[in-house]
Amino acid sequence: MSLMSTKSMEQLRAEAAETGEHSLKRVLGPVNLITLGIGAIIGTGIFVLTGQAAAQYSGPAIVLSMVLAGVASALAGLCYAEFASSVPIAGSAYTYGYATLGEFIAWIIGWDLILEYALGAATVAVGWSGYVVSFLADFGLLLPPAYTAPLGVDLVETSPGHWQILAANLATQLTNQGINPASLPHVTGIINLPAMLIAVLVTVLLVIGIKESANVNSVIVIVKVAVVLAVIVAGAAFVKTANWHPFIPANRGSFGDFGWSGIARGAGVIFFAYIGFDAVSTAAQEAKNPTRDMPIGILGSLVICTILYVAVSLVMVGLVPYTMLGVSAPMAVAIDAAKTQAQGTGWAWFINMLPFLVKLGAIAGLSSVMVVMMLGQPRIFYSMAKDGLLPPWAKKIHPRFRTPHITTIVTGVAVAIAAGLTPINILGELVSVGTLLAFVIVSLGIIFLRRRRPDVVAPFRTPWVPLVPILSALVSLSLMASLPLPTWERLIVWMIIGIAIYFGYGYRHSELRKRIEAGGRG
Ligand code: ALA
Repeated sequence: MSLMSTKSMEQLRAEAAETGEHSLKRVLGPVNLITLGIGAIIGTGIFVLTGQAAAQYSGPAIVLSMVLAGVASALAGLCYAEFASSVPIAGSAYTYGYATLGEFIAWIIGWDLILEYALGAATVAVGWSGYVVSFLADFGLLLPPAYTAPLGVDLVETSPGHWQILAANLATQLTNQGINPASLPHVTGIINLPAMLIAVLVTVLLVIGIKESANVNSVIVIVKVAVVLAVIVAGAAFVKTANWHPFIPANRGSFGDFGWSGIARGAGVIFFAYIGFDAVSTAAQEAKNPTRDMPIGILGSLVICTILYVAVSLVMVGLVPYTMLGVSAPMAVAIDAAKTQAQGTGWAWFINMLPFLVKLGAIAGLSSVMVVMMLGQPRIFYSMAKDGLLPPWAKKIHPRFRTPHITTIVTGVAVAIAAGLTPINILGELVSVGTLLAFVIVSLGIIFLRRRRPDVVAPFRTPWVPLVPILSALVSLSLMASLPLPTWERLIVWMIIGIAIYFGYGYRHSELRKRIEAGGRG
């Protein structure tokens, strides 16, 4: 058997149709799948990164960056939708790779997806911790700052009880305000305990059941969509159009520093905000009617979030000058500006409550992103273990809860450790590079699928093949290129470890290999 051997579509479909106590439970309908997608998408990206990208790279044209990142995601989303409807297996991109590009590439994608899902959850756990700490501080509940940040990180007290990581942009902002960062109280981080705590809580929820997790997720999604809508509607009433001018601030000399290149770099940064629509595909074996509902879940959630993102970013850069948005809670800053104008109007009571609601929505919203990411990861491990590429314990399903409990717990522990010990920027960039790599491979996979299996007619077909897949791969590659060198180095080290594990274990235990060597077909 060669490294390029693929699994046949027939076999994948037979696996997808499996039922019984050792299989996952089919309970999710189209609305559940759309909410699962929105649950994964709206998170740290919109609540934190949008403001930072506007302040540092794009200005009011962050709206165009949003559209650009949305287009990149939609192109990949169309490819995911075809695969998810024709191969509705929990392994997502890993399975699509196995069907089209062979076992070795499939392993590479599976290993790469750990960066997207497990590290994605860890990134969001760190964002969650930041919001919770600040929310509690608003009520006078002060957590010891050294236990809210990873080892060695420098924190400063920017206002009484509010500690922030002294990153380069915070230092610049303080200096611009005439404050010398060195004059503020400092503390060095030890470990991020709240981030570890949320990882443990989400793990417990996920072991108990997919239906329960999907229900909790639905409630949270309603809360966070309501918060974003409230900001759009209430904020729109107080937008000062002068803040939108100049819409594209002039470039200041280097690539990415405003101007058109700033729009591109802004898109690279806020791409993180769209990650998650592809996670819907990991629930394929728990969907009641995956061939019809997978494209609805993937594309539906993406369209809804793109509209919300474009509208909310337009309002944010209309409420305050974009230079003020480079903070950890930019949405709250934008709303604060509206507060002053709203006094004496009928809106005042509502606007006064909004900053509180935004923080609450962010805290709830970030937990649901973690739920979906940490739901996806064990299901990918489950698919890999069923193929023999991971040890058999990774495919065990809990007899009563019918969830992959062992891999859920292993994922939870890994997420907790990564979240407790790593700064958010290192995590976030690795997540983006890992996700974009998966997008590239999935997009190219569609071309191989059409060539190798013209007989397979998926219920949903990507339009304009090969144009859409090629464009999708190119756009994702260019976003990857905009990420810094150390992120690439980490990606390469991660891949080398993965390849070593494949040749040490998976290559020898592959079920496909056993079948082929026994004389059967793949
Ligand atoms: N899209 C998700 C977020 O913004 C990952 O948090």
